[in-house]
Amino acid sequence: MRQAPPQVASTVPSESPESGEGLDDHLGRAPDGYPADRTRTRFSRPDCGSATPVQTAPDAPRGIEIVARDLRRLRGGRCVLHDVSVTIRRGELVGIVGGSGAGKTTLLHALAGVQRPDSGHVLFDGLELYPNLGAFRGVLGYVPQDDIIHAELPLERTLRYAATLRLPEPVSRSDIDAAVARVLVALELEDCARLRVGDLSGGQRKRASIGAELLTEPHAFFLDEPTSGLDPATDAELLRVLRGLADDGSTVVFTTHQVHDLAHCDRIVVLARDGYLAFVGTAEEACRYFQARRTEEIYVRLDCAATPTAWAERFARHRHENGHRTGAPPAKQDPALCARPPAGFLRQWRALSMRTFETLVRSPLTLGILIGSPVMVVAMFAILFSPGTFDFDHPSPSAIAMIVFWITFAAFFFGITYGLLQICTEGAIVRREHLVGQRASAYLLSKLTVLLPFLLIVNALMLGLLRALDRLPGAGTMTYLSLGITLVLESGAALTLGLLTSAALANPAQATLALPMVCFPAVLFSGGIVPVHVMASVGAAISTVVPVRWAFEALGHSLRVRYLLLHGGSPLGPPLVHAYGNAGEDATGVYWLYLGTFTAVFLAAAWATLVRKCTRET
Ligand SMILES: Nc1ncnc2c1ncn2[C@@H]1O[C@H](COP(=O)(O)OP(=O)(O)O)[C@@H](O)[C@H]1O
Ligand SMILES: [Mg+2]
Repeated sequence: MRQAPPQVASTVPSESPESGEGLDDHLGRAPDGYPADRTRTRFSRPDCGSATPVQTAPDAPRGIEIVARDLRRLRGGRCVLHDVSVTIRRGELVGIVGGSGAGKTTLLHALAGVQRPDSGHVLFDGLELYPNLGAFRGVLGYVPQDDIIHAELPLERTLRYAATLRLPEPVSRSDIDAAVARVLVALELEDCARLRVGDLSGGQRKRASIGAELLTEPHAFFLDEPTSGLDPATDAELLRVLRGLADDGSTVVFTTHQVHDLAHCDRIVVLARDGYLAFVGTAEEACRYFQARRTEEIYVRLDCAATPTAWAERFARHRHENGHRTGAPPAKQDPALCARPPAGFLRQWRALSMRTFETLVRSPLTLGILIGSPVMVVAMFAILFSPGTFDFDHPSPSAIAMIVFWITFAAFFFGITYGLLQICTEGAIVRREHLVGQRASAYLLSKLTVLLPFLLIVNALMLGLLRALDRLPGAGTMTYLSLGITLVLESGAALTLGLLTSAALANPAQATLALPMVCFPAVLFSGGIVPVHVMASVGAAISTVVPVRWAFEALGHSLRVRYLLLHGGSPLGPPLVHAYGNAGEDATGVYWLYLGTFTAVFLAAAWATLVRKCTRET
């Protein structure tokens, strides 16, 4: 058991406090009824007597002093944060409070390096945060409102993946085991280690999200509404965890609109509407300042007693009268000292591939889609199409065209359905992991690594079954190999298109709407139902960027459909060939090149969209 480094108490700078009251008074205050003892062991729980330590690196400087100066933020053309200046000391637990839409999350994001403010400065130990973000990232913890762990996986597994992805290089298996065990013990989640995250209670799930961040032992910890939706007992429990982190020396900042959370805080930052800074100080000082008998009344006073600008002006005067200084302390450390090299590309790719696979096979819905949709599609084909359609002496021309088209479309459909739910279902996780150095390329590659083999198997089974049922003609191995390559390439293009669409979507509900929007053009402009030859010129132009068209033509080419229709025993064959123009006349390799190009373009677009999704406003 390690005690928190003793220097924590002495590193609290002696600049004047925001509210103008003596710093010693402030530190001597006991918000939760206990002495504000800065040498308490991390997560010590004075009320229940348990003291579960989290090991810290012996030389790790704990806690970061944060100085925000004149932060301003525009959103949708409107200023939602008005020149907010605040100093947060090492080892403080600070709550950002205010009404809904007051700008709490916006301020938290600016302080945590999640979203750069439009103007103003954020200094970590006297150093500008944003130019040094790469160096500080490793010591920042940020828990957004949404869960940042997979609901399908058991808690211990999801923490192991988080540790593999986040612990700085070099890391061994025993480091990962130790980090996971430490966090489970510290957050009292050992009994839930084998439970699915989705089966945990709200409070346990929130602690699990916090656990994913604690794996790297952050020096500054930011949480967006960690207590929202929790019952009072769970809320208090979580606040004690945060209190323990701060007591151990970490700087902890969180947003809340629960008034009872404020009693646990060293200080609170009160925002009036439209992001005006109305007060910074202890909860008791806030009550005096707002002439409120209880903290609940602060909200009423904020809304009714004056305008947001008036509150901001009043607090600026108050600060001035009390000698508040906005100057930053001199830099105490080189950011390079706390830079922790993130996991390398290979480690990320391997861990992400394994996590994707495990998430897929553990989720009944995704597994159902993965296996169920090909089974249903092939069963429907077997019921719909008659055997012997490709018989040279008695071919059935229109049925041949339809079989070739629907097989082609099925391969597209499998790819799109596999890709569409991949990213939009884990947006919060991806965004958070991107902030700690996860590469979008490793992430996308892991999806392809897991899903392409599934698509290969599904397409091979579809061809094999339809051949066995005589819905496809008897042809040589090379012909079937060629059909298989075409379908896998097409499925790959569809998969990357699905990933691109998924990266652009916000949630799975949008994916449900997107599926027909992607599939309709794939049918209409494929050249299978309405031949390209007879399409209006705009339609024909659109068809050139529809992968199904090229796969359809490649399949027709490999199956020698033109020859069968022109020379087979049906008089309807030649007119049908003429209706399809010169479709299928190119070499198969040309079609494969087109399909490969689609895959590369969709993948590059998915990468760009994913990076943008991770860096833009949330
Ligand atoms: N993407 C966005 N585009 C435009 N305005 C936004 C966007 N997100 C948030 N806002 C606005 O910014 C303001 C502050 O939002 P936020 O910081 O989320 O408030 P809080 O966390 O206090 O509820 C709100 O008025 C909100 O409507
Ligand atoms: Mg918010």
